[in-house]
Amino acid sequence: MNTPLTTDLGILRAVGNTPLIQLHANGSDGGASVFVKLEYLNPSGSVKDRMTLAILDDAERRGQLKPGMTVVEYTGGSTGPALALACRAKGYPLKLVTSSCFTPERLAMMAAFGADLEVMPRRSPEGMTQEDVADMTNRVAELASLPDYFSTDQFHNQAMVEGYRQTLGQEILNQTGGRMTAFCTGVGTGGTLMGVGLAIKETLPDCQVVAMEPAGSPALSKGVVGPHKLQGLSGGKSPLVDMNVVDSVETAGDDEAIAMAASLAKTDGIFAGISTGANVVVARRLAERLGPDDVVVTIAVDSGMKYMSTGIFG
Ligand SMILES: Cc1ncc(COP(=O)(O)O)c(C=O)c1O
Repeated sequence: MNTPLTTDLGILRAVGNTPLIQLHANGSDGGASVFVKLEYLNPSGSVKDRMTLAILDDAERRGQLKPGMTVVEYTGGSTGPALALACRAKGYPLKLVTSSCFTPERLAMMAAFGADLEVMPRRSPEGMTQEDVADMTNRVAELASLPDYFSTDQFHNQAMVEGYRQTLGQEILNQTGGRMTAFCTGVGTGGTLMGVGLAIKETLPDCQVVAMEPAGSPALSKGVVGPHKLQGLSGGKSPLVDMNVVDSVETAGDDEAIAMAASLAKTDGIFAGISTGANVVVARRLAERLGPDDVVVTIAVDSGMKYMSTGIFG
């Protein structure tokens, strides 16, 4: 039987199977190789394409999401475009609550994918704060209490973790062929970390799973929160993060993350955002502590295109 060329999933067929690229050695590594999984090559431009269908399918199965309902979520500009693609494939309107602390490109992208946007004014010029997060979550809670709205509630959604475990986690395991020594990634919802972390612990229990958080808001390692510039990272304690799956926590500073994002484009042609810069700062740090046979894997979460207005690429 011939496989049909098209399905109702449309562009979602292009999600996944992203390349895993080895970074050039930077001279100070202790010999361990660092590999980056290019998740910005997904159709909405970030890792978030991995989990949106899993969330919507799960909500439909539970009877929480029904035809005619509007999906609502708060987002800094990665989940938004990804949800827009999945909602369009399934025929649900989407309302996104966001904040002016995110770059204009991120806000424009969400609108471009057809979402209805509500932008909350930022609280601090220093970066995102926990008050900004509260403004967005409170507004989503208000909307979700109205009839015919369904909140995907990404900070509490286990279906999302499962989406990452089955797709991203399995791909990384296949691509590294059992040779991964450490995996690190930043914590926003913690979905990526948990999904990949669970897949790793099932197959490679000795592989280190490392959470990365902003140095300006070290909630997991020090219980302290503050403003930071690592857009997409919550800087708080996400309820999804199970510390039994996490071997250690590392922090990355705003300046070193920004410098790494800018240099990655030049040294390795990886044009990615600030949280990716932070991921690579920590991956390189881990590599320095490991040996020549070791392999460290991290994620290029989203594209540098969404950060052009920050001027970080010169
Ligand atoms: C740019 C960026 N980096 C990292 C993350 C963190 O991913 P997760 O929510 O899976 O922890 C996000 C989440 O929105 C993001 O937008």
